[in-house]
Amino acid sequence: MQMQVGAHTRPLKGKFGVEVTGVDVAAASPEVLASIVELLNRHGVVVVRDQHLTPEEQVAFTRYFGAPADNPRKEFTIPGQPDVFVISNKVVDGRPIGDADAGTGWHFDMSYDRRPGFCTILYALEVPPEGSNTLFADLCAAWDELPAQRRDELKDLMVHHSFITLQTMKGNKLTDEQRRTLPDVFHPLVRKHPFDGRPALRPCAGGANGVVGKDNPEGMDLLKELVAYVTQEQFVYSHKWSAGDLVLWDNNCTLHRGTPFDKQKYFRHVHRTWVQSPPAHYAA
Ligand SMILES: [Fe+2]
Repeated sequence: MQMQVGAHTRPLKGKFGVEVTGVDVAAASPEVLASIVELLNRHGVVVVRDQHLTPEEQVAFTRYFGAPADNPRKEFTIPGQPDVFVISNKVVDGRPIGDADAGTGWHFDMSYDRRPGFCTILYALEVPPEGSNTLFADLCAAWDELPAQRRDELKDLMVHHSFITLQTMKGNKLTDEQRRTLPDVFHPLVRKHPFDGRPALRPCAGGANGVVGKDNPEGMDLLKELVAYVTQEQFVYSHKWSAGDLVLWDNNCTLHRGTPFDKQKYFRHVHRTWVQSPPAHYAA
């Protein structure tokens, strides 16, 4: 893999996840950007340290992975920059400026969408000194470790996902437009990676209504059991954030969740962009 002079890479957990230092993505050449794409494709999670990005620069970087996807909760996007979603517990003029509770249960992004998230990109402007780690589960390793008989039982199952269920669980109200534009969807439990076909066991219980062909509670119990399996310590990388971290992950082969922190004591302020479908050059 080609990287620029001064750049270094370091594995985070065996083959799962890689850290990059010595790169300024806002000024990076197409060759360096292609190397980051390759790292994401191979390793599922990429942590690029010490970045200084405006929202416009983050969107430009995101475009290299594909067109930025729409954010269904527009009240927390940056004014004039609707592709950037704010995750924050800050309140300005009595109004929350971001989603303070984004993603504390294990999930993959946009599970409720007909085309779930491909790549998610978080850029940290401010992070608490303790708590608020992001955990990532390696779903390809989890699949590889299953006995053959168990793989046979699971390989053709479909999971029922619902935006309405997800938002209801979170206590959020839905607009009529959200109800109309985000109907329930069904995704395979075992996701073949779009670029090399490697299988990933991708269960998600949050925002799910069950498993096709199984009554509840059996279907939901199965999803919960599988989430517990794929998120065992041996499959998980825990990211401790520093301000300036730019973290990318591939939702085809990972689950993630945030850990709590003291919101009375600390601020967490993060800009998120995401992509549903990669551009044609990605796989080249
Ligand atoms: Fe998420």
